[in-house]
Amino acid sequence: MDRQIIRTKNFVADSANFILDQAHQSIGERDEFRIALSGGNTPRPVYARLATRARDLPWELFRITFGDERCVPPDDLQSNFRMARETLFEPAGVPEKSVMRMRGEIDPQIASREYEDRLNVLATERGESIYRHDLILLGLGDDGHTASLFPGTAGLEEKRRKVIANFVPKLNSWRLTFSFPLINAARHICFLVDANKGADLIERVIEGDRGFPASHVNPAAGKVTWIIGQ
Ligand code: 6PG
Repeated sequence: MDRQIIRTKNFVADSANFILDQAHQSIGERDEFRIALSGGNTPRPVYARLATRARDLPWELFRITFGDERCVPPDDLQSNFRMARETLFEPAGVPEKSVMRMRGEIDPQIASREYEDRLNVLATERGESIYRHDLILLGLGDDGHTASLFPGTAGLEEKRRKVIANFVPKLNSWRLTFSFPLINAARHICFLVDANKGADLIERVIEGDRGFPASHVNPAAGKVTWIIGQ
């Protein structure tokens, strides 16, 4: 695995610049930028900074997906889509057609298959056996989860599906999430981990402690970048 670790006191600026660099590189090579956004709180200021830096980006060449979503309506405070809409899509004027929202408001099994079908159609159009993101942003939970692949959940074992509904007992709720096969098909994966995360957890995941789901992120033909706030 081709991996780089960036530790920075300028977490928000460096993360936004990294994403912009990846966008320019992908658009330069393939006239498209397929990026999956992560949810939670960490990326919120990064998306807001991106919006201030990226008004002149060719947003129509972006295809924005979500690595996971809570099973709530899009206007719910818990919605990752709502967070991205407020911090990035609206301020930057991202056209609706560039965003693929996971429908958290419907039955999770149906929503996951619907999303997976949409990705499969796009992959087929590109002659790919599996949809290949240019960049997948991932967070790191305090229990070592990433996307909505939590320790001890069935989703960790998924080897065939690309997008699944995953029941999370500790939250007593369903989540929609990319599976490891889809994550590990990406050209580039970037963990965005701010200074609030425990240094010991980060080191154990980076060292590959298989007890943490995030350690199972290992793209066969892709790069992994860690941007860690200090
Ligand atoms: C989610 C995220 C999840 C998140 C981690 C870290 O939907 O919550 O996708 O994987 O990245 O839980 O969350 P924080 O950034 O809020 O610490």
